[in-house]
Amino acid sequence: MSAGSNRRFILLKMVNVIGLGYIGLPTAVMLASCGICVVGTDCNSALVKKLRDGKPNFIENGFETLFRSAVKFGIRFSSDYQPADIYIIAVPTPYCEITKKINPDYVCSSVGEVIKVCPEDAVIVIESTVSPGTIDRYVRPIIDENKLKTGKSVNLVHAPERIIPGNMIEELIHNSRVIGADNPEIGMRIKKLYSSFCTGEIVVTDIRTAEMTKVAENTFRAVNIAFANELAKICRLDGTDVYEVIKICNMHPRVNILQPGPGVGGHCISIDPWFFVGDYPDISRVIETAMTTNSGMPDYVLGRIYEIMKENGIDDFSRVGLYGLTYKENVDDCRESPTLQLLESQKRHFSVPIKVYDPLVTYDITANQYHNFDSFIFDTDFVVIMVGHREICDNMDKLKNKIILDTRNVCNLPGAYKL
Ligand SMILES: NC(=O)c1ccc[n+]([C@@H]2O[C@H](COP(=O)([O-])OP(=O)(O)OC[C@H]3O[C@@H](n4cnc5c(N)ncnc54)[C@H](O)[C@@H]3O)[C@@H](O)[C@H]2O)c1
Repeated sequence: MSAGSNRRFILLKMVNVIGLGYIGLPTAVMLASCGICVVGTDCNSALVKKLRDGKPNFIENGFETLFRSAVKFGIRFSSDYQPADIYIIAVPTPYCEITKKINPDYVCSSVGEVIKVCPEDAVIVIESTVSPGTIDRYVRPIIDENKLKTGKSVNLVHAPERIIPGNMIEELIHNSRVIGADNPEIGMRIKKLYSSFCTGEIVVTDIRTAEMTKVAENTFRAVNIAFANELAKICRLDGTDVYEVIKICNMHPRVNILQPGPGVGGHCISIDPWFFVGDYPDISRVIETAMTTNSGMPDYVLGRIYEIMKENGIDDFSRVGLYGLTYKENVDDCRESPTLQLLESQKRHFSVPIKVYDPLVTYDITANQYHNFDSFIFDTDFVVIMVGHREICDNMDKLKNKIILDTRNVCNLPGAYKL
């Protein structure tokens, strides 16, 4: 074995996780709880301070305990990038609303910072979701240019994350994963790192394949949801119950239709499929139509609200209330949420924003926002269930005398309208 390859098997001294949001923080905490020396870095110094004070920034099943354990094991938080053997980058990867292409700026800027402090032969793992080709197009040139200037080599890996907010800790442990690396030995080394907490199968492949699989998975789900949304509209005109139809269809051994809803949100399904549309506009026809169908759902719900108001002789918008602001149930993440999209669309019609309430959104993000379930219910005659949080499922009896539009199929009360 040459000296060069020997160097790759040095004992793991430190992992620096860059970006401590929904993905980076649970990953950092999980690694630290396994006894690995971890420093979490984020450019948001207020967040770093909160974490140092022992106050994690979101609620997740099992997260609090894991966080405490990581603190016991000595996890540190900093605004500075650290010299480390392995870097895990989990920063945002938005898309450009005009071109639909990825905006790689956050990833590039963090890679640029990492190479200033990393030692020779460090491994940079991009965990952020990126469009296929992003690493070759935007990241590799930064590494190559640095090598030309300083002679320092760095190894690149892509290890996209699959966890879902609401069940993050369970999924971090049990999901299978993909690791794409230029060098299979480095791929195996990173596999070993993730195996410290992940019991699922970990496939090692090349970077380009790893990039493609992540975007393909989310696109598959987006297209399937768009189909369910379209089916919901067809079933309504046909007078059939879409949920019953989907339940029966899914008893077919080769059919698995997802659920319709008021739209898609979050950082994955509402964004990643656009990368294909941006990069392959002439080929990604099904994907583009699916994404347009999904983004049209908040408007469709608004249309249903108008229809139901008319049917029930309600003309006072102030008696209508939207339950739920987050993009899915039992999480506090409001990014790209269908409720916010609906409110935005309503604003364009110059009307007063509809009342809104979410038990997990304790700060004000929109006008007419309530912070108490009972006062919200008291002040509304027509409740639109936009998110099926545990709270409303456990308190359905409080909606007994209301007009209800249930966009999540969580309400069994007689007379509740569906999508
Ligand atoms: N949230 C999800 O459900 C989910 C699931 C799978 C994959 N992903 C992917 O993971 C990546 C991260 O998503 P997220 O939801 O954790 O984002 P997030 O917005 O919750 O967190 C990102 C963090 O990165 C920090 N940051 C930004 N630029 C930085 C920089 N240059 N240096 C240091 N810190 C920086 C921000 O301050 C923020 O705290 C994205 O690519 C996303 O697509 C997200």
